[in-house]
Amino acid sequence: MYKSEGVREHLEMTDWWQREERMSGRPLCIFMHRRHPFGRGHESCRLLNMFYTPVSKVSGMQMKVLAIAGSPRRHGNSETLLDWFLESIGGEEGVQIEKIPIVEANVNPCRGCNACEVLNRCVQRDGMDALHDKLVEADCIVIAAPIFCMGINAQTKALIDRAQVFRSRKYVLKLPIVPEERKGKRMGVFLSSAGQKWDYVFDAAIPSIKCFYHVLEVRDRDIRYLMVNGVDRKGEIEEHPTAKSDAYRLGKNIYADMKGRLAG
Ligand SMILES: Cc1cc2nc3c(=O)[nH]c(=O)nc-3n(C[C@H](O)[C@H](O)[C@H](O)COP(=O)(O)O)c2cc1C
Repeated sequence: MYKSEGVREHLEMTDWWQREERMSGRPLCIFMHRRHPFGRGHESCRLLNMFYTPVSKVSGMQMKVLAIAGSPRRHGNSETLLDWFLESIGGEEGVQIEKIPIVEANVNPCRGCNACEVLNRCVQRDGMDALHDKLVEADCIVIAAPIFCMGINAQTKALIDRAQVFRSRKYVLKLPIVPEERKGKRMGVFLSSAGQKWDYVFDAAIPSIKCFYHVLEVRDRDIRYLMVNGVDRKGEIEEHPTAKSDAYRLGKNIYADMKGRLAG
């Protein structure tokens, strides 16, 4: 069943995209095919706890992964993709994961007052206060968000807009976001799902994501993408032929990449 025409083409294309992505930092897209090897009701892991992997006491290395589950639909397609990724990287030594569902984070939209250009902080006191420090401290920031009306969903976009404080700090106040020695070591991961099968369905989301990571000192070339289209119903991603294995592989790749950076 895995060798059906559509899946084989898909796998070849995925390999190609991944090579491309490694070489050029371009996004990896994966596509839903009508035929799928998984039956309905395929079990997936649910990571309900915000902290689920203790920091390893064996080695000195600690890798902080901050994961934002950006959909208002809990345990939907994008969060399932995130859970697969976290399950993969969370099995590695020294990885500390914090997963935050955006619907529980209490992040209000930006008011556009530009006070952060003077104050070096936002005038709003909400969940962004706690998230601010976590965004600075993380070695790897993962955003998992669905596509709503051809762009990033509003709850995740509110978080991206509130990162304006980092933009003000960096470009107006000329202050550092992270210490010099951490520059070039941070990574970003964007996981996404969309209902339509158009290959360009993620195009409008990517510039916002790059903007977010840019102000947080994550370079374009240090962002990895796994975006799955053609998955609409809650749980439909579990029927996708490669989404789970792609998320697992990405988790292992990010770990290996981050480990090298943190050691260097
Ligand atoms: C308000 C709304 C708008 C949507 N707009 C789009 C869209 O423009 N293009 C698309 O491909 N899917 C769209 N979808 C479908 C979602 O992207 C899709 O169901 C996705 O897998 C949901 O992920 P989640 O389960 O993590 O929320 C939309 C869904 C909602 C609720």
